[in-house]
Amino acid sequence: MEKFFSVEDVDELDKVVQEALSLKANPHEHSELGKHKMLGLVFLNPSLRTRLSTQKAAINLGMDVMVMNMDKDGWALETQDGVVMNGTTVEHIREAAAVMGEYCDILGLRSFPGLKDRELDYSEDLFNKFVKFCGVPVVSLESATRHPLQSLTDLITITEHKKVQKPKVVLAWAPHIKALPQAVPNSFSEWMCKAQEQGLVEFTVAHPVGYELHEDFTKGATIVNDLDAALDGADFVYVKNWSSYRDYGKVFPVLQNWMLDNQKLKLTNDAKVMHCLPVRRDLELASEILDGPNSLVIKEASNRVWAAQVVLKRMLAKLK
Ligand code: CP
Repeated sequence: MEKFFSVEDVDELDKVVQEALSLKANPHEHSELGKHKMLGLVFLNPSLRTRLSTQKAAINLGMDVMVMNMDKDGWALETQDGVVMNGTTVEHIREAAAVMGEYCDILGLRSFPGLKDRELDYSEDLFNKFVKFCGVPVVSLESATRHPLQSLTDLITITEHKKVQKPKVVLAWAPHIKALPQAVPNSFSEWMCKAQEQGLVEFTVAHPVGYELHEDFTKGATIVNDLDAALDGADFVYVKNWSSYRDYGKVFPVLQNWMLDNQKLKLTNDAKVMHCLPVRRDLELASEILDGPNSLVIKEASNRVWAAQVVLKRMLAKLK
């Protein structure tokens, strides 16, 4: 595995999930694999789970880890070619990525979208340039359009907790006060669409009109604009806010109640409730659910380690 960026970087979903669960059962089984190998984690945006779980996964594999908070501690990056750098940017991505590639055997990068220029964000210009110039395998720690470590985690969590062979999984839009990226829902949706193709789940996306995701991410999904209808018979509800793709980065007032609470949960098949975190309590998701027996959010966050570990293990195996 040279790069972990999307669901396309994994062939058989069930196989990677089983490998992750095997690592969960024996976290230190491959503790020699990463000996004398360096992982560099580069953050252009904040993180709790991705930062700590990926570090823990690397340490379980015997790797050393360096973390660079590029947004706070690095030089201001220029990402465009042909720019005379007489403004605020100090270092070009060509040099910055190449230098980090000299220090590390594998790199991880987190870079959120600007949510102003859709074409630029959806071209994944920054992530692709980082991959090109660093010269070592790269793990996405969340890019402009996807969060694959989160989505692999979510599939692992669904596999662990499912009570039927092919559970009904619903991605449910939730309210928020800020404009959030589409990366988590895009990614969750593309992983669930592939899981559906491979006979692992039935997948529905529910959102208000105006919050359609790009069709590339929802191929094969049932899409509805009525939350209550979507919740009918659901085994898993994945709650997440996102801003509009169509009116890029915009947030519209939504009159109906889209926040999942215990009343709405009654419409489901006693569904387990997931969220990638961080979550705004009683805005995105009711506290009574987060504190109740149906919430999987902590178990889900815990599984971030095994998703990161299986990806790093596969990359390390290729380095040898
Ligand atoms: N879910 C997730 O990626 O969490 P962080 O942003 O805290 O890393």
